[in-house]
Formats: sequence, structure tokens, C-alpha cells
Amino acid sequence: MFCYWIKFIKFAIIYAPLEQVVWTTYKHYNKLTEMKILLTGGAGFIGSHTLIELTEAGHEAVVVDNLDNSSPISLKRVAKIIGKEVPFYKVDIRDREGLQKVFDEHKFDACIHFAGLKAVGESCAKPLEYYENNMNGTFVLVDVMRKNGCKNMIFSSSATVYGDPAIIPITEECPKGHCTNPYGQTKSMLEEVLMDVQKADNEWNIVLLRYFNPIGAHKSGTIGENPNGIPNNLMPYITQTAVGKRAELGVFGNDYDTHDGTGVRDYIHVVDLARAHVAALKAIVENKGIAIYNIGTGHGYSVLDVVKAFEKANGVPVPYAIKPRRPGDIATCYCNPAKAEAELGWKAQFGIEDMCRDSWNWQKNNPNGFEE
Ligand code: NAD
Ligand code: UFG
Repeated sequence: MFCYWIKFIKFAIIYAPLEQVVWTTYKHYNKLTEMKILLTGGAGFIGSHTLIELTEAGHEAVVVDNLDNSSPISLKRVAKIIGKEVPFYKVDIRDREGLQKVFDEHKFDACIHFAGLKAVGESCAKPLEYYENNMNGTFVLVDVMRKNGCKNMIFSSSATVYGDPAIIPITEECPKGHCTNPYGQTKSMLEEVLMDVQKADNEWNIVLLRYFNPIGAHKSGTIGENPNGIPNNLMPYITQTAVGKRAELGVFGNDYDTHDGTGVRDYIHVVDLARAHVAALKAIVENKGIAIYNIGTGHGYSVLDVVKAFEKANGVPVPYAIKPRRPGDIATCYCNPAKAEAELGWKAQFGIEDMCRDSWNWQKNNPNGFEE
């Protein structure tokens, strides 16, 4: 018996540290499954989808949203999909004290910053409100984050920062262009601000994700895009026309230098976009400092291509009429997403028909959005 204990103690002394090394290494390599993440704007369209992908990848998430452009029902539906409630705080990110209370209750590894106003047309009518909300909100958030020792952020940027792009397909090296509206300006200016923050303090890791055109919805058809009033964007206009809420789709211009004269964009399924955020945590784990990625599929579809794909995927007609060009629109915008694939291992999986099918599935099951 005595011999047994001697052997056991020797074994423990020799192997315990080894086990510790193995455990630490395991934790290091699985850090991606262990992060606690603050999602600002997490009740919105992209945020709610990202919440699902993050929790399904094993992360813990906390949502802060002032519900200015979203419904708490989206979070209830997410809870049903993922099988658990996610902590939610109805807080405006400009409210320093409210935000501090959230940080008092949670220790975050990173923040995915979606919160912001996003309607291009409204931003032209209310520039001050847009600059105030998007710029000041980010200033307060970044300041509270650094005071609480959380210096990792993924920021929702946009293809709009390229203006009328100098290179097609657009790579991250493409120079930024002139944004024709205050919303786009806030994205472009915030990119500069965040890069300056990182330059001044290299403990920060900041990932700028330049989204192309997110459409589609979760396959459950229970969450999706829910624009207020008359939609500005193409896909919600198509789905509302298909469901009979709008008489016809106006196609803004058929005299662009594109294959059929209508505007070409890089549409991306919102679930692919959500997964890009999970993948982007890798850039944080690897301490990349500043990292910029285009998040699109790399394919350009015209307005009429999308109309045809929608009709084919869903067997529903979309009446349309050609209208004059919309001010501020460009002919063609699609990206080269190779950098995200090479560095993050992320690549879009869904095609245009999947996007059309899932957008329709959401719209037809929820003709009035989140109203229950
Ligand atoms: P969304 O409006 O559905 O979500 C944004 C959320 O932020 C909303 O829930 C809103 O209530 C919240 N919010 C706004 N201001 C806030 C504040 N001061 N404090 C707290 N919460 C606030 O929009 P989305 O489509 O999910 O977009 C998410 C982010 O991605 C935005 O920053 C948007 O600018 C950016 N983006 C969107 C697109 C797109 O086409 N949807 C394209 C490129 C970039
Ligand atoms: N379009 C129509 N009819 C409509 C709506 C849009 O023909 O009723 C056309 C537009 O002219 C454009 C294309 O469909 O050619 C896409 O337009 P969207 O409004 O859906 O998207 P944009 O490319 O203009 O802009 C969107 C967001 C921006 C974001 C950008 C890139 O609104 O905030 O994608 O991510 F910056």
C-alpha cells in the first residue's frame, strides 16, 4: 500500500505540470470557443443573426441595444433558436453610466459593434442626428471599453467607404472614395478614428469588416430584416412587392454600364455575414492590431438578375417598372473576398437563390415584421 502511494505521488509530481501544460495549450487553441462578447446593436438585423452564430460556436454574448430600430421580439426568437436567453440591456451606447453598469456586471473579451443608424436617405435629411449617434456613440463605447480593459473590437463598416470604386473587383487595397451621404461619412470617419486609437495604443485589436449588401434571413424564417416604412434597399422592396404590400418595384436606372444596364451589387447572405464575425475573432486572437476585410461573395448581380433569381427560387412574380437613376448610386460594386478566406478561413457559402428563398421565407411568414 505504502509503495502504491509513493508511486502515485511521484506520478503526480512528474505529470501534474505536464497536464497543466496540456490544459493551457488546449485552452489557448480553443480560445475561440471561450470568448465573452458584447454585441452593441445586437437586436438588429445583422446583430441578431450574429448572436446565433456566436453562441452556436460556443461563445458567450451580451446584447446592448436602445431598440431605436429593432424589436425585443427578435431576441425572444433568437432565444428560441439557440435554446437559451441572452442577457440584454436596453441601453443607448451614448449613455456612459448605463454602459459602465453593463461592464460592471460582465468582463468582456471583445465587442462587436453594430449599433448605429443606417438609412442612407434619412441620413441626408437628418445629418446631425446621424453624426451624433454614430460618431458620439462609438466615442463613448471605445472610451468605456478601454477604461474597463477591453481593447478588442470588430466594427461594422461598409462597402460604401470605397465610394465609386477605383478597382473592380474591390480589394482592401482599393483607395477609399467619396461617400455621397452622411451615413457613409460616419463609417469612413469611424474607420479613421478607430485606426488612430489603435495607433496610439497597440494593445488594441480592431477589425474593420466592410460589408457588401446583406440580404436573406435565418432558415427558421423567424428573424430577418424589418425596415421601418417604405424600404430603401432592394431586397425588402422586392419581398414587400411579392407579398402585395407594394404595387411594383421601381428599378432605378437601366442605362448603367453593366450587362443589362441595371446596377450591380455583391449580395451576401446575412448568415454568411454573421459567420464572418465569428471568423474575425481569429484576427483578435492573433493580435493583428488593425485588420480590414471585405465581406462579400465576390459575385456581382444586377437588379434584374436579383428579380429573376427571386422569381425562380420562390415561384412568385415581382412586377417592376424602370425608373430614373437614384441620386448617389453607382453602377457596379462587388469585391474580391480572398483576404478574408486566406487570413480568417471564411468564405461565403450561400448563393443568390438561397438568399432569395430565405428573404421570402421570412417575409411571407412575417408580413408585418416582428408584430405578434
Ligand atoms: P439595424 O438597424 O437592424 O441594427 C442596428 C441596431 O443598433 C438596431 O437594433 C438599433 O436599435 C441599434 N442602435 C442604433 N443606435 C444605437 C445606440 N445609440 N445605442 C444602442 N443601440 C443603437 O442595422 P443592421 O442592418 O443590423 O446593421 C448593423 C450595422 O451594420 C450598422 O452599423 C450598419 O450601419 C452596418 N451596415 C449595415 C449594412 C446593411 O445593408 N444592413 C451594410 C453595411 C454596414
Ligand atoms: N434598387 C432599385 N430599386 C429599389 C432599391 C434599390 O432598383 O427600390 C437598386 C439600386 O439602385 C442599386 C441596387 O438596387 O443598384 C442595390 O440598392 P440597395 O439600396 O439595396 O443597396 P446599395 O448598394 O445602394 O447600398 C446598401 C446599403 C448601404 C451600404 C451598401 C454597401 O444601403 O448602406 O449597401 O454595403 F453601404
